[in-house]
Amino acid sequence: MIDLQNAGPGTRAVWAGEETYLLQGATQVPVVHSVSFGYKDLDEWLQVALGEKPGHIYGRNTNPTVQAFEEKVRQLEGAEAATSAATGMGIISSALFALLSPGDRVVSVKDTYGGTNKIFTEFLPRFRVDVALCDTTDHEAIEAEIGRGCRVLYLESPTNPTVKVMDLARLAAAGHAVGATVIVDNTFATPINQNPLALGADLVLHSATKFLGGHADALGGVICGARDLVGQVYHFREINGATLHPMAAYLLLRGLKTLHLRVRQQNESAGQIARFLAAHPAVAEVYYPGLATHEGHDIACRQMRGFGGMLSFRLQEDSLDAVRRFLPRLQFAHAAANLGAVETIVGPPATTSHVECTREERAAMGIPESLIRYSTGIEETADLVGDLDQALRVFL
Ligand SMILES: Cc1ncc(COP(=O)(O)O)c(C=O)c1O
Repeated sequence: MIDLQNAGPGTRAVWAGEETYLLQGATQVPVVHSVSFGYKDLDEWLQVALGEKPGHIYGRNTNPTVQAFEEKVRQLEGAEAATSAATGMGIISSALFALLSPGDRVVSVKDTYGGTNKIFTEFLPRFRVDVALCDTTDHEAIEAEIGRGCRVLYLESPTNPTVKVMDLARLAAAGHAVGATVIVDNTFATPINQNPLALGADLVLHSATKFLGGHADALGGVICGARDLVGQVYHFREINGATLHPMAAYLLLRGLKTLHLRVRQQNESAGQIARFLAAHPAVAEVYYPGLATHEGHDIACRQMRGFGGMLSFRLQEDSLDAVRRFLPRLQFAHAAANLGAVETIVGPPATTSHVECTREERAAMGIPESLIRYSTGIEETADLVGDLDQALRVFL
């Protein structure tokens, strides 16, 4: 087996998880479409079915292509085990419903991804799970809520869409003091920029649809952590049936091989774009943890290796109508509800991350209607800055 023990993340992104699945000298992992896996020997079949021997039984449970994808992410996050789901929301809901029971309490923050927020506000309360959502950057208030006891502490850093940063090591320690399982959504940071398990989290998850796949052509979700916890999430997911499709797993696997190169470029461009926007007269405020003026900059410097490709900004002309006039002027950006792809993607939270929320709910989360989320692609930095510059002229 290839020894990746001392290999850097870029080398892991290319080589990890593949060797076992290469068929007859192939250099690429195959897409195994077979729904079931047959055994002539009944005893062997039984051993595989009982998990006493490696192998596959039925595609809703496990699949070789899907496992190769899980294994690559596991090694990038430095985890003991990993499992996946059809989407990011598939893995988030599987984790929360696997780990929480009626009467339990979960502590999280107001700025989680809109779909996650819906689980907290609409679904978990119906199953008598008590949900406490704190102000995202008020660490004392979060610690106080954790101190009242909780079964799960659910964090996301940086957050979507205002790119707030939470001190993961500090909050994980507070969670463990009350025996909570600490989950972190690492979608925005990617394992190239941040490893929450190394900061004390028990489980780290991703919408693989975003940076991990990187090409906006496959949906997926993945979670990594200790074997027993991942096993609980896997068990729920194999029964609810939100299984990652092998073709999607293949596309995600292929995308992952360039993760480090893409993220390096996105970190660099986002930093330059954030500085350009911060100095622009038509821009009121820029949200990017790489800016020294950002509230979470010091924490980000401690826990992140790069500040990521996501930023958002508010226009001086603070209206949705200003966004309506500005967005179509951008040439090198899809106006779409996605992020983390090779192409730059823009959109206001009202039509993207927080479309599930009402205007009032967004306001309560501190999300201005005129906010523009900017997911930096891998285009040349100067071209993206130039594109923003010409588009912002509409306000001058
Ligand atoms: C931070 C974050 N987590 C989770 C999700 C949900 O992922 P998916 O759309 O793959 O279900 C998203 C989607 O935008 C996200 O931005």
